[in-house]
Amino acid sequence: MSAAEAAALIAPGHTVGMSGFTGSGHPKAVPQALAARIEAAHAQGQPFQINLWTGASTSPELDGLLAKVGGLRQRLPFQSDPACRERINGGEIDYVDLHLSHVAQHAWFGFFGRMDVAVIEVLGILPDGRLIPSAAVGNNKTWLEIADKVILEVNGQLPAEMEGMHDIYYGTAIPPRRQPIAMTQATERIGEPYLRVDPAKVVAVVETHASDRNTPFARPDAVSQQIAGHIIEFLTHEVKMGRLPKDMLPLQSGVGNVANAVLAGLLDGPFDDLLGFTEVLQDGMLELLKRGKMRAASSTAISLSGDAMREFTENIDFYRERIVLRPQEISNHPELVRRLGVIAMNAMIEADIYGNVNSTHVMGSAMMNGIGGSGDFARNGYLSFFVTPSVAKGGAVSCIVPMVSHVDHTEHDTQIIVTEQGLADLRGLSPRKRAQLIIDRCAHPEWRPLLQDYFDRAQRQGARHTPHLLGEALSWHQRCLETGSMRPLETVCL
Ligand code: COA
Repeated sequence: MSAAEAAALIAPGHTVGMSGFTGSGHPKAVPQALAARIEAAHAQGQPFQINLWTGASTSPELDGLLAKVGGLRQRLPFQSDPACRERINGGEIDYVDLHLSHVAQHAWFGFFGRMDVAVIEVLGILPDGRLIPSAAVGNNKTWLEIADKVILEVNGQLPAEMEGMHDIYYGTAIPPRRQPIAMTQATERIGEPYLRVDPAKVVAVVETHASDRNTPFARPDAVSQQIAGHIIEFLTHEVKMGRLPKDMLPLQSGVGNVANAVLAGLLDGPFDDLLGFTEVLQDGMLELLKRGKMRAASSTAISLSGDAMREFTENIDFYRERIVLRPQEISNHPELVRRLGVIAMNAMIEADIYGNVNSTHVMGSAMMNGIGGSGDFARNGYLSFFVTPSVAKGGAVSCIVPMVSHVDHTEHDTQIIVTEQGLADLRGLSPRKRAQLIIDRCAHPEWRPLLQDYFDRAQRQGARHTPHLLGEALSWHQRCLETGSMRPLETVCL
């Protein structure tokens, strides 16, 4: 049926599970038709909002449009759309930010309530009713299972040869019936290539022919390249010390330009035969596969720029052999991340001198995107890197601060902090030693003396295990909110 007819099956107040993970695999037509419907209802004074659950971020045509027309009451989990972000921070959307590995199981446990409709993009439908997944698996398996009704968008734009690339695990059960997941290698297949759906629940099939995200990544800048350089030097050292095997351990790489730069750095690095165990496969990892530096990769989504998508499509047989796409409850599973010994690399907004990390909130309050899978990988990985440029906003903001204004990853989950200035290896260090190393190695030279002064005074003024001056700890952020800069007032006046 048409997208408009399918969208008419979604009612005000419905909880809707949509496919989509980091700009790929989301339904393209039904959300736009739904947004038009919501807008028309609002024009007649009729309230119309839905609760929207996805795999992760989607696109301007989904998150953006539904947010703009005021159609979202609740949203979970990760998003990164500017319009959606504005309404989350304005208090209009109830945003529930979750570890991505938790979403499916919490839905299964019944923590969020019932799901009325699932709208899932697929590549095709087999004669026996099984579904060929598209470029992102995300939470689709779970949404198809728990939703009362299912709307399928069959997207003919993706290469049909992707069939066979997916590995959908149907062995998950809820406690106390849960069993170990029998996977011991990053790209081992433990499931089946297709999604199952009860045909009786399918109320609509809509055909589309639209592409996923294909915005280009910025070329790695000098700062990203320096961060990548520090990480590669560190990994080389770890191999030399016998703490890492020569072909390393499976790599997880977060979203964004710095993450891509690190992967670009690995292209010329000394490591071969790499493996990926990540949640989103972007251009950097595709290039590693193409150049033979990486043997194979496991992910839940492929999210590529236009150029990389062309490369992927033209050489689909090569990539189908080397990429496995899994549900996000498996790609991010703590049991597997820990067993495989994943090396986690994630970007952050700020870290404090003790190694607590804020990945989500600007100045403690304004939601940026969400925690995504960073916590799944950081807490359970063999090694965990958090990276950021040392300053933001043209230097007015230090990304190394006395105390983070919001905590996503505690000092117990972070091991290695990296900025373009250098790398602080915090493993086995007590708080005071951590602080000195982070100040020396990671802080920008403009901010280093100020951090040192804070730390010195905190140590002198009767401090205990983790020295802080509580009245001052968040004063840098407060000053930034008041003046637009963390710089002390006398510096600003000068
Ligand atoms: N204070 C205020 N603003 C800051 C800041 C700080 N300490 N650090 C960064 N910012 C701002 C930047 O100025 C930029 O703002 P702009 O969009 O207005 O230009 C924005 O935050 C993004 O920063 P950028 O340096 O471009 O980083 P990025 O694209 O690499 O994204 C995160 C960094 C942390 C926002 C992003 O990685 C994220 O959302 N992470 C959480 C989820 C995650 O880790 N997932 C990993 C598994 S895939």
